[in-house]
Amino acid sequence: MTESTLPRHIAIVMDGNGRWARQRFLPRMAGHQSGVEAARRIVKCCAKKNIKVLSLFAFSRENWRRPDQEVGYLMQLFLKSLEREVGMLHENNIQLRFIGDRQNFNPKLCDKIFEVENLTRANSGMILIMAMDYGGQWDICQATRQLAVQVERGELSSAAITPDHITSKLSFADLPDPDLFIRTSGELRLSNFMLWQLAYAELYFTNTLWPDFDEQALEAALSHFAGRERRFGQSSSDKPPLLGE
Ligand code: IPE
Ligand code: IPE
Ligand code: MG
Repeated sequence: MTESTLPRHIAIVMDGNGRWARQRFLPRMAGHQSGVEAARRIVKCCAKKNIKVLSLFAFSRENWRRPDQEVGYLMQLFLKSLEREVGMLHENNIQLRFIGDRQNFNPKLCDKIFEVENLTRANSGMILIMAMDYGGQWDICQATRQLAVQVERGELSSAAITPDHITSKLSFADLPDPDLFIRTSGELRLSNFMLWQLAYAELYFTNTLWPDFDEQALEAALSHFAGRERRFGQSSSDKPPLLGE
């Protein structure tokens, strides 16, 4: 695969941890733990391939609806994984960013996020986005609120608002939109991930459960992507002449 057929930005909904554990008669938590290992593997792989941005959906706004025990365990796992992986990320020149609403995280996790973002801020390699307490609708909503404030202050007229204004207030404003969206575990939905930014992403779904997603599975997704013709609304490149010869 050449540089030009590689996606610049890959967005992944890492799904299927629970089912992976159930198949092995293990508690769900074991599935989440293996999910962290898979994430580590894929981060390293993508960095090696010079992917510019990798976005991982780790916890959705809707995931707060899970039982308290599972949510508590996940929060602990995020904190421990950050503590454990920060060295590897920094050594690999990876810049780590978090998107989502941090208000509901405990102070220890918030401090760690702040610390890790600061430590890796100047890294020039891959940008790794962790989406936590994130939702695409939340993102569009907070962007809209910011624009509404500008309108209230008379800095912007409502009639002048364009998609670019909205894009500029979203969490990924300075990054290219995802070229490739991957969802594991056979579910065919976006589950409120990056709704605005996925407008022209190529969608790839696989039955592989997230803890089993490895380098080979990533290669399969990348070769599907390399075979797609991205048209962005234009006519197909092998189109017949419009009016005949
Ligand atoms: C994804 O795996 C991890 C999170 C949403 C945190 P799930 O926990 O959703 O696994 P399934 O869908 O129950 O198999
Ligand atoms: C989406 O997975 C969120 C993450 C992977 C973090 P879910 O398992 O929560 O999605 P639904 O509920 O099946 O749509
Ligand atoms: Mg799931």
